[in-house]
Amino acid sequence: MPHNETKTILLKGGRVLNPATGCDQVMDVLIEGEQIKALGEDIPASQAETVIQLTPDQWVTPGLVDIHVHFRDPGRPDKETTASGAAAAVAGGFTSVCIMPNTTPTIDDLATLEYVNQAAKTQTKINIHAVAAATKNLAGEELTEIGSLYENGAVAFTDDGHCLMNANLMRLALEYATMFNAPVVCHAEDMNLSKEGCMNEGYYSTLLGLPGIPNIAESVIVGRDIELARMTGGHVHFAHVSTRESVDLIRRAKAEGVKVSGETTPHYLTLTDAEIQRYDTHFKMNPPLRSESDRQALIEGLLDGTIEAIATDHAPHTPDEKALEFDKAPNGVVGLETSLGVVLTHLVHTGVLTPLKMVEVMSTRPAQLMRIPAGVLEPGARADITVIDPKAEWEVDPTQFKSKSRNTPFKGMPLKGRPEMVFAAGECLLDASNRLKQPSLL
Ligand code: DOR
Repeated sequence: MPHNETKTILLKGGRVLNPATGCDQVMDVLIEGEQIKALGEDIPASQAETVIQLTPDQWVTPGLVDIHVHFRDPGRPDKETTASGAAAAVAGGFTSVCIMPNTTPTIDDLATLEYVNQAAKTQTKINIHAVAAATKNLAGEELTEIGSLYENGAVAFTDDGHCLMNANLMRLALEYATMFNAPVVCHAEDMNLSKEGCMNEGYYSTLLGLPGIPNIAESVIVGRDIELARMTGGHVHFAHVSTRESVDLIRRAKAEGVKVSGETTPHYLTLTDAEIQRYDTHFKMNPPLRSESDRQALIEGLLDGTIEAIATDHAPHTPDEKALEFDKAPNGVVGLETSLGVVLTHLVHTGVLTPLKMVEVMSTRPAQLMRIPAGVLEPGARADITVIDPKAEWEVDPTQFKSKSRNTPFKGMPLKGRPEMVFAAGECLLDASNRLKQPSLL
């Protein structure tokens, strides 16, 4: 037993998945205070005050990392706050998130950045990292103070929600961000091509008589920003990649040594524009759900490392707004509380992704892309840990969400797999089966 007040918890006998070392084996993990103290094959129970006996059917992973969420704080506390967004993250197994700057006001100056940093520090134990705006008010006209925003905690820069259409400003944003080794996150959408589109341009948009957004609206900007990354040596990270053409371009650029990366979402990996036939606005987001061929290309991209992260693009909206006609409703779906279950059910249990690869794209690699200290299990690291029960069966019931919003396309879907326990800096924030109240008899 330790001599001080520090709490020690031993997670015993779970299947430890740690992509940073390639570890996929039954092991014990010892938490001491806020840190991981040790990993080992048989750590004596006497080393810890609390022992949680797991089975090889339960996975012990670094806390999941979502590098693309919208928390609406400041500005729309009816949709989400820092506290409710963080609670949704924990419910979904996430211990680190990157918040997007399209709030009201925009996270484009030090005062607003300080506000979100304070909210993060005081309202939750999970790690919330701000991605600051690349241009003031996301207007695409004047760069933000990239250096001082970075020095005050912004991890990356983006006009997400809008495309930075001015290629010269994108060049300059990359040149500045590169001085701090920070990525610029690209919302790839040529607004002259997407126009008033509200769904994918293709067979279903023709059938339904809705204006479409063609694939090339995305890939033409992906192509442009690959060239800007090549020229500046900066890192462009492509948000919410949705098309086959984008995957092909990113694959080729990576092979040529250009510093680019990409994320996609659980919804692009599992749903297509065929869903829009019911005109249900819970399937409306930007970029839109694409064709089956695009979906397949995203999976291929994940498998060969072209797409390095699964992020949710958690985008809360009110029921009133989502009740508008399809073309008028806002873009976006919530995702934090369904991401793990959807990925396990549709990609891991079906044999597409191995469990280790899932953890790589939902924790280790996204943390590396945003240069945030997360995604690894190792002595001395912050004890951010998710215990997953991959066999738990449940059904998506939006009324149970911790998020303030309910706009999910997965309502009613039966899923297999959920987070069982979540530790952030050694503190247990989720304990689905009340294990801590029923200590092991070991
Ligand atoms: O669907 C989306 N919703 N796409 C975006 O780019 C922005 C987001 C939002 O903020 O609602």
